[in-house]
Amino acid sequence: MEVILAKQAGFCFGVKRATHLAFEAADRKGETYTLGPIIHSPQVVQRLEEMGVKVLGDVNEADAGTIIIRSHGVAAEELEAAVSKNLEIVDATCPFVKKAQEHVASLSQAGYDVVVVGDADHPEVQGIVSYATGKVYVVGCGDEAAKLPRMAKIGVVAQTTQSFENLKDVVNACLAKGGEIRVYHTICDATAVRQEEAKALAGKVDCMIVIGGFNSANTKRLAEVCSELLPRTHHIETASQLDPTWFSGVEKVGVTAGASTPKWLIDEVLDRIAEIDREKIG
Ligand code: F3S
Repeated sequence: MEVILAKQAGFCFGVKRATHLAFEAADRKGETYTLGPIIHSPQVVQRLEEMGVKVLGDVNEADAGTIIIRSHGVAAEELEAAVSKNLEIVDATCPFVKKAQEHVASLSQAGYDVVVVGDADHPEVQGIVSYATGKVYVVGCGDEAAKLPRMAKIGVVAQTTQSFENLKDVVNACLAKGGEIRVYHTICDATAVRQEEAKALAGKVDCMIVIGGFNSANTKRLAEVCSELLPRTHHIETASQLDPTWFSGVEKVGVTAGASTPKWLIDEVLDRIAEIDREKIG
Protein backbone atom coordinates (compact mmCIF):
# COMPACT_ATOMS: atom_id res chain seq x y z
CA MET A 1 0.00 0.00 0.00
CA GLU A 2 1.19 3.50 -0.70
CA VAL A 3 0.65 5.81 2.28
CA ILE A 4 0.50 9.58 1.66
CA LEU A 5 0.71 11.90 4.65
CA ALA A 6 -0.69 15.41 4.15
CA LYS A 7 2.06 18.06 4.39
CA GLN A 8 0.04 20.16 6.84
CA ALA A 9 -1.09 17.29 9.08
CA GLY A 10 -1.09 17.99 12.81
CA PHE A 11 -0.13 20.91 15.02
CA CYS A 12 -0.65 24.44 13.76
CA PHE A 13 1.72 27.19 14.89
CA GLY A 14 -0.40 28.27 17.88
CA VAL A 15 -1.03 24.77 19.22
CA LYS A 16 2.62 23.80 18.81
CA ARG A 17 3.64 26.88 20.81
CA ALA A 18 0.99 26.27 23.53
CA THR A 19 1.93 22.61 23.92
CA HIS A 20 5.63 23.47 24.12
CA LEU A 21 4.95 26.09 26.82
CA ALA A 22 2.76 23.64 28.76
CA PHE A 23 5.34 20.83 28.77
CA GLU A 24 8.05 23.35 29.73
CA ALA A 25 5.90 24.53 32.68
CA ALA A 26 5.17 20.91 33.68
CA ASP A 27 8.92 20.17 33.73
CA ARG A 28 9.50 22.97 36.24
CA LYS A 29 7.40 21.00 38.78
CA GLY A 30 5.29 22.76 41.44
CA GLU A 31 1.51 23.05 41.26
CA THR A 32 0.61 23.58 37.59
CA TYR A 33 -2.83 24.00 36.09
CA THR A 34 -4.52 24.66 32.78
CA LEU A 35 -7.81 26.51 32.54
CA GLY A 36 -9.84 23.95 30.62
CA PRO A 37 -8.01 21.39 28.45
CA ILE A 38 -4.91 23.03 26.92
CA ILE A 39 -5.80 21.70 23.45
CA HIS A 40 -8.50 19.37 22.07
CA SER A 41 -6.35 16.28 22.25
CA PRO A 42 -7.25 13.91 25.11
CA GLN A 43 -3.88 12.14 24.68
CA VAL A 44 -1.87 15.37 25.16
CA VAL A 45 -4.02 16.34 28.14
CA GLN A 46 -3.43 12.88 29.63
CA ARG A 47 0.36 13.15 29.19
CA LEU A 48 0.34 16.51 30.96
CA GLU A 49 -1.84 15.05 33.74
CA GLU A 50 0.70 12.27 34.19
CA MET A 51 3.29 15.03 34.70
CA GLY A 52 1.11 16.58 37.41
CA VAL A 53 -0.72 19.25 35.39
CA LYS A 54 -4.33 19.52 36.53
CA VAL A 55 -7.21 20.78 34.39
CA LEU A 56 -9.33 23.37 36.19
CA GLY A 57 -12.84 24.48 35.31
CA ASP A 58 -12.42 27.78 37.13
CA VAL A 59 -9.44 29.92 38.13
CA ASN A 60 -10.79 30.09 41.71
CA GLU A 61 -9.95 26.41 42.15
CA ALA A 62 -6.22 27.33 42.30
CA ASP A 63 -4.64 29.13 45.26
CA ALA A 64 -0.99 28.98 44.32
CA GLY A 65 1.28 27.76 41.54
CA THR A 66 1.34 28.22 37.79
CA ILE A 67 -1.65 28.55 35.50
CA ILE A 68 -1.32 27.95 31.75
CA ILE A 69 -3.69 29.86 29.47
CA ARG A 70 -4.79 27.69 26.51
CA SER A 71 -4.18 28.55 22.85
CA HIS A 72 -7.66 29.94 22.16
CA GLY A 73 -7.40 32.29 25.13
CA VAL A 74 -9.60 33.04 28.13
CA ALA A 75 -11.92 35.86 29.15
CA ALA A 76 -10.33 39.07 30.43
CA GLU A 77 -11.96 38.56 33.86
CA GLU A 78 -10.40 35.11 34.22
CA LEU A 79 -6.97 36.51 33.44
CA GLU A 80 -7.51 39.33 35.94
CA ALA A 81 -8.61 36.79 38.58
CA ALA A 82 -5.40 34.80 38.02
CA VAL A 83 -3.31 37.98 38.35
CA SER A 84 -5.08 39.07 41.52
CA LYS A 85 -4.49 35.62 43.07
CA ASN A 86 -0.76 36.02 42.42
CA LEU A 87 -0.65 32.87 40.31
CA GLU A 88 2.28 32.59 37.94
CA ILE A 89 0.80 32.91 34.44
CA VAL A 90 2.08 31.13 31.35
CA ASP A 91 0.09 32.77 28.59
CA ALA A 92 -0.10 30.27 25.74
CA THR A 93 -2.84 32.22 23.93
CA CYS A 94 -2.10 31.99 20.21
CA PRO A 95 -0.71 35.34 19.01
CA PHE A 96 -3.43 35.43 16.31
CA VAL A 97 -6.16 35.12 18.96
CA LYS A 98 -4.38 37.74 21.09
CA LYS A 99 -4.47 40.13 18.14
CA ALA A 100 -8.26 39.69 17.80
CA GLN A 101 -8.66 40.40 21.55
CA GLU A 102 -6.50 43.54 21.26
CA HIS A 103 -8.44 44.83 18.26
CA VAL A 104 -11.73 44.46 20.14
CA ALA A 105 -10.31 46.38 23.10
CA SER A 106 -8.94 49.21 20.95
CA LEU A 107 -12.11 49.46 18.83
CA SER A 108 -14.23 49.72 21.98
CA GLN A 109 -11.94 52.39 23.41
CA ALA A 110 -12.19 54.35 20.16
CA GLY A 111 -16.00 54.39 20.41
CA TYR A 112 -16.87 51.65 17.90
CA ASP A 113 -19.68 49.14 18.49
CA VAL A 114 -17.98 45.81 17.88
CA VAL A 115 -19.26 42.96 15.71
CA VAL A 116 -17.48 39.65 16.24
CA VAL A 117 -17.98 37.12 13.43
CA GLY A 118 -18.01 33.66 14.96
CA ASP A 119 -19.64 31.00 17.07
CA ALA A 120 -21.01 32.60 20.26
CA ASP A 121 -20.61 29.34 22.21
CA HIS A 122 -16.93 28.91 21.40
CA PRO A 123 -14.51 29.77 24.23
CA GLU A 124 -12.28 31.71 21.81
CA VAL A 125 -15.21 34.00 20.91
CA GLN A 126 -16.26 34.35 24.55
CA GLY A 127 -12.68 35.39 25.32
CA ILE A 128 -12.50 37.88 22.43
CA VAL A 129 -15.88 39.42 23.34
CA SER A 130 -14.79 39.92 26.95
CA TYR A 131 -12.24 42.55 25.83
CA ALA A 132 -14.98 44.92 24.65
CA THR A 133 -15.69 47.81 26.98
CA GLY A 134 -18.69 49.07 24.97
CA LYS A 135 -21.41 47.40 22.90
CA VAL A 136 -20.48 44.09 21.31
CA TYR A 137 -22.48 41.66 19.14
CA VAL A 138 -21.62 38.14 17.98
CA VAL A 139 -22.98 37.10 14.59
CA GLY A 140 -22.56 33.76 12.85
CA CYS A 141 -23.33 34.91 9.30
CA GLY A 142 -24.42 37.78 7.04
CA ASP A 143 -28.14 37.08 7.65
CA GLU A 144 -27.63 37.52 11.38
CA ALA A 145 -25.65 40.73 10.78
CA ALA A 146 -28.57 42.05 8.69
CA LYS A 147 -30.71 41.98 11.85
CA LEU A 148 -28.30 44.22 13.83
CA PRO A 149 -29.45 47.73 14.80
CA ARG A 150 -28.00 50.81 13.08
CA MET A 151 -24.73 51.99 14.59
CA ALA A 152 -22.65 55.13 14.09
CA LYS A 153 -19.27 53.39 14.08
CA ILE A 154 -18.88 49.65 13.56
CA GLY A 155 -15.72 47.63 14.19
CA VAL A 156 -15.59 44.09 12.78
CA VAL A 157 -13.32 41.33 14.06
CA ALA A 158 -13.51 37.59 13.21
CA GLN A 159 -12.94 34.40 15.17
CA THR A 160 -9.62 33.07 13.83
CA THR A 161 -11.16 29.93 12.29
CA GLN A 162 -13.92 31.69 10.31
CA SER A 163 -13.97 31.50 6.53
CA PHE A 164 -13.03 34.60 4.55
CA GLU A 165 -16.35 34.34 2.65
CA ASN A 166 -18.34 34.56 5.87
CA LEU A 167 -16.37 37.60 7.04
CA LYS A 168 -17.10 39.26 3.68
CA ASP A 169 -20.84 38.48 4.02
CA VAL A 170 -20.97 40.05 7.47
CA VAL A 171 -19.03 43.13 6.33
CA ASN A 172 -21.45 43.52 3.41
CA ALA A 173 -24.43 43.41 5.77
CA CYS A 174 -22.72 45.90 8.11
CA LEU A 175 -22.28 48.38 5.24
CA ALA A 176 -26.03 48.97 5.45
CA LYS A 177 -25.88 49.50 9.20
CA GLY A 178 -23.53 52.41 9.80
CA GLY A 179 -21.61 55.31 8.35
CA GLU A 180 -18.15 54.19 9.37
CA ILE A 181 -16.83 50.66 9.39
CA ARG A 182 -13.40 49.45 10.43
CA VAL A 183 -12.62 45.80 9.63
CA TYR A 184 -9.76 43.71 11.00
CA HIS A 185 -8.86 40.57 9.09
CA THR A 186 -8.12 38.30 12.05
CA ILE A 187 -8.64 34.97 10.27
CA CYS A 188 -5.83 32.44 10.51
CA ASP A 189 -5.55 30.25 7.42
CA ALA A 190 -4.23 27.13 9.21
CA THR A 191 -7.68 25.50 9.22
CA ALA A 192 -8.52 26.33 5.58
CA VAL A 193 -5.11 25.15 4.36
CA ARG A 194 -5.55 21.80 6.15
CA GLN A 195 -9.03 21.35 4.68
CA GLU A 196 -7.96 22.16 1.12
CA GLU A 197 -5.03 19.78 1.32
CA ALA A 198 -7.16 17.01 2.85
CA LYS A 199 -9.75 17.40 0.08
CA ALA A 200 -7.08 17.16 -2.61
CA LEU A 201 -5.67 14.05 -0.95
CA ALA A 202 -9.10 12.40 -0.51
CA GLY A 203 -9.60 12.81 -4.27
CA LYS A 204 -6.63 10.61 -5.15
CA VAL A 205 -6.59 7.79 -2.58
CA ASP A 206 -8.84 4.76 -1.85
CA CYS A 207 -9.09 5.28 1.89
CA MET A 208 -8.55 8.27 4.16
CA ILE A 209 -7.53 8.23 7.84
CA VAL A 210 -8.11 11.44 9.82
CA ILE A 211 -6.40 11.57 13.22
CA GLY A 212 -7.46 13.84 16.08
CA GLY A 213 -9.59 14.30 19.18
CA PHE A 214 -13.24 13.35 18.86
CA ASN A 215 -13.81 16.64 20.75
CA SER A 216 -11.78 18.64 18.21
CA ALA A 217 -14.04 20.71 15.94
CA ASN A 218 -11.35 21.20 13.28
CA THR A 219 -10.60 17.44 13.14
CA LYS A 220 -14.30 16.58 12.86
CA ARG A 221 -14.61 19.09 10.02
CA LEU A 222 -11.57 17.55 8.27
CA ALA A 223 -13.21 14.12 8.50
CA GLU A 224 -16.49 15.55 7.16
CA VAL A 225 -14.93 17.24 4.12
CA CYS A 226 -12.99 14.06 3.32
CA SER A 227 -15.98 11.71 3.69
CA GLU A 228 -18.07 13.91 1.38
CA LEU A 229 -15.55 13.02 -1.33
CA LEU A 230 -14.54 9.60 -0.11
CA PRO A 231 -16.94 7.48 1.99
CA ARG A 232 -14.02 5.27 3.04
CA THR A 233 -12.87 7.96 5.49
CA HIS A 234 -12.26 7.05 9.11
CA HIS A 235 -11.78 9.45 12.04
CA ILE A 236 -9.62 7.97 14.80
CA GLU A 237 -7.84 9.27 17.89
CA THR A 238 -5.16 6.60 18.23
CA ALA A 239 -3.47 3.79 16.25
CA SER A 240 -5.27 1.10 18.28
CA GLN A 241 -8.56 2.17 16.67
CA LEU A 242 -7.37 1.22 13.15
CA ASP A 243 -9.33 -1.74 11.78
CA PRO A 244 -7.36 -3.93 9.31
CA THR A 245 -10.57 -4.63 7.31
CA TRP A 246 -10.66 -0.93 6.30
CA PHE A 247 -7.65 -1.59 4.07
CA SER A 248 -8.86 -4.57 2.09
CA GLY A 249 -8.41 -3.89 -1.62
CA VAL A 250 -6.81 -0.52 -0.85
CA GLU A 251 -3.78 0.58 -2.86
CA LYS A 252 -3.40 4.17 -1.69
CA VAL A 253 -4.09 5.50 1.81
CA GLY A 254 -4.22 9.20 2.68
CA VAL A 255 -3.48 10.33 6.22
CA THR A 256 -4.16 13.72 7.73
CA ALA A 257 -4.56 15.09 11.25
CA GLY A 258 -6.25 18.02 12.96
CA ALA A 259 -4.41 21.10 14.20
CA SER A 260 -4.33 19.73 17.76
CA THR A 261 -2.94 16.28 16.94
CA PRO A 262 0.66 15.71 18.13
CA LYS A 263 3.31 14.18 15.88
CA TRP A 264 3.77 11.14 18.10
CA LEU A 265 0.14 10.06 17.51
CA ILE A 266 0.55 10.51 13.75
CA ASP A 267 3.77 8.43 13.80
CA GLU A 268 2.06 5.63 15.76
CA VAL A 269 -0.74 5.52 13.18
CA LEU A 270 1.73 5.41 10.26
CA ASP A 271 3.63 2.55 11.97
CA ARG A 272 0.41 0.61 12.56
CA ILE A 273 -0.72 1.04 8.93
CA ALA A 274 2.68 -0.29 7.78
CA GLU A 275 2.23 -3.26 10.12
CA ILE A 276 -1.28 -3.97 8.78
CA ASP A 277 0.14 -3.80 5.24
CA ARG A 278 2.85 -6.34 6.11
CA GLU A 279 0.21 -8.66 7.65
CA LYS A 280 -1.87 -8.34 4.44
CA ILE A 281 1.05 -9.46 2.29
CA GLY A 282 2.22 -12.13 4.74
FE1 F3S B 1 -3.52 29.96 16.26
FE2 F3S B 1 -4.51 29.51 13.88
FE3 F3S B 1 -3.73 27.52 15.37
S1 F3S B 1 -5.26 30.96 15.38
S2 F3S B 1 -4.10 28.18 17.44
S3 F3S B 1 -2.42 29.11 14.53
S4 F3S B 1 -5.52 27.52 14.05
